[in-house]
Amino acid sequence: MVIKNVNLETVCGITSVLPKNTKPEIAFAGKSNVGKSSLINALMNRKSYARISATPGKTQTINYYSINDEMYLVDLPGYGYAKVSEQEKIKWGQLIERYLHSSAQLKAVFLLIDIRHAPSENDRIMYQWIVDQGFHPIIIATKLDKIKRSQVQKQMKVLREGLKLIPGTTIIPFSSQTKQGRDEIWDMVENQFLN
Ligand code: GTP
Ligand code: MG
Repeated sequence: MVIKNVNLETVCGITSVLPKNTKPEIAFAGKSNVGKSSLINALMNRKSYARISATPGKTQTINYYSINDEMYLVDLPGYGYAKVSEQEKIKWGQLIERYLHSSAQLKAVFLLIDIRHAPSENDRIMYQWIVDQGFHPIIIATKLDKIKRSQVQKQMKVLREGLKLIPGTTIIPFSSQTKQGRDEIWDMVENQFLN
């Protein structure tokens, strides 16, 4: 994808009405701090257009980034952030579920998991929600630069087994530091979901 222009077009909080977009949407889900906003920046060739933070819980809204006025990359709020109240966690969960359920233009959901760790209970719940809404989530194993190359296959197996992935599910290892995996993600989006 040649990026001609990007624009944070819509920001939705827990009480917002979700937009009825007419262009395709590709969404990115995952636990807080897993690297969703960093991935979206890498896909847009921007350093810090999507806000990134070392403090988890940065993205608390659904952010729609318009790409070339052609499609949207959708940054979902991170789940599993310990420091927010139970009430807030429930509301974010409901917002994500509402998004998955009611977005008519949603073409694909990518679920991000840190390549270093076994998936959490929340990751499994998220995976199942996505599947229940009729999508085949693609897994992005983030922070690839943090492990040795010799560990990659083993960690992919940990992800596959921990999430009980549907056989044939694609896992793409990715690093926002080296941008490894970026082109593969765009190829997949363009070839499988935008045509
Ligand atoms: P929330 O908005 O809280 O849900 O987090 P997020 O999933 O958007 O994560 P974000 O992109 O803000 O990244 C969180 C932290 O991880 C930041 O300090 C990033 O610099 C770091 N990070 C993200 N991706 C990578 C990566 O591929 N490699 C390394 N080494 N660090 C990364
Ligand atoms: Mg974020």
